[in-house]
Amino acid sequence: MNYPSRKLKKLPPYLFGAIDILKKRAYEKKLDVIDLCMGNPDLPTPKDIVERLCDTVLNHSRTHRYPQAKGMPKFRKAILKWFKKRFGVELDPEEEILALIGSKEGIAHFFMSWLEEGELVLVPSPCYPVHYNGVILAGGEVYTIPLLKENNYLPDLSKIPEEVARRAKILVLNYPNNPTTAVVKDLNFFEEVVRFAKKYDIIVLHDAAYSEITFDGYVAPSFLQVKGSKDVAVEFHSFSKTFNMAGWRIGWVCGNRELIKPLEKLKSYLDYGVPTFIQLSGVKALEIEDKVIGETLNEYKRRRDYFYNGLKKLGWEVELPKATMYLWAKIPEPFSRLGSLQFAELLIDKTGVACAPGIGFGPYGEGYVRFALVTHYNRFHDALLRIKKFMKEGGKYVKTS
Ligand SMILES: Cc1ncc(COP(=O)(O)O)c(C=O)c1O
Repeated sequence: MNYPSRKLKKLPPYLFGAIDILKKRAYEKKLDVIDLCMGNPDLPTPKDIVERLCDTVLNHSRTHRYPQAKGMPKFRKAILKWFKKRFGVELDPEEEILALIGSKEGIAHFFMSWLEEGELVLVPSPCYPVHYNGVILAGGEVYTIPLLKENNYLPDLSKIPEEVARRAKILVLNYPNNPTTAVVKDLNFFEEVVRFAKKYDIIVLHDAAYSEITFDGYVAPSFLQVKGSKDVAVEFHSFSKTFNMAGWRIGWVCGNRELIKPLEKLKSYLDYGVPTFIQLSGVKALEIEDKVIGETLNEYKRRRDYFYNGLKKLGWEVELPKATMYLWAKIPEPFSRLGSLQFAELLIDKTGVACAPGIGFGPYGEGYVRFALVTHYNRFHDALLRIKKFMKEGGKYVKTS
């Protein structure tokens, strides 16, 4: 009997797979599901970007051919220009920028292009699942670094044992952070990371997918703004959240050229890159960011404020995020003893409100759930009413479960 790869078997069940089954069950029961589970933006891609796509596909048949896998020069130049304007960082478009079919693809393949069997990666917990799963799929070994509330969800590098630091090949970071919504206040932490990485010869993989989804005047820095960072780091960026283009599959990695080269090589064996018409739509997106981002941010902020205040009134302990479109919320009493998966299951089953259980982001996510603010503003009122009722009946659910 044949069997699939052992690496696949080692992976935990895909978080959203389990929740999808529950959602399906809820739909079958004719429950009106309010889906706050996956970070899948519900707002439409701005019209100018869609129009650029339609025009390109209709009128420029050359864009129907295989694309330039590393990204067409126009795309890479647009990134260079945007990066310089946004972060004041210079990039060489030839070797320091690579187009990706979304940053998730790039991150997974980065691990494959750099890891030998058994090599060690420092991975935060909780984390976006590919930060962990990508390492396992590449045959690597994970050393968990906890992100704790008392440390503002920044890893405490001083707690990493000397022999682990010496063995580690890659350190994964993600700010603004999914799922905790934490941000770095200034460049101090990134500077500490650069010193740590240089001391132990560690590659830094920074995932900046939420760099533009920020509120209340907070501006997220790039890791590459830190002096010396380009010696050790690559940074992954995405169009998915900034421009509501999650389904378009486009992103990029930039930073150290020697770190990018093997990824480019691996990808050249596996894929043909981002379709040309999508790359050109990406160029348009970067050109009009100032015009379109405000609407997205205002809407997320409106939802954030409403739902945050509502949860607080119901007695939840929840962070007011300066970035991302999530709320990271501690499971209230008497439900905390259930565990986050069982809590999320109960919540969807009894109320139709779907959220992501913290355990799906790693062991240090236990005790929390993540709400994604990706449904119409008016739905949050209803979600809160249902959660309120659910909490009133809480004892019953805890006992019978
Ligand atoms: C931290 C983080 N990185 C990367 C991604 C994936 O982005 P992309 O759509 O560019 O693959 C997500 C998606 O939710 C994310 O939360």
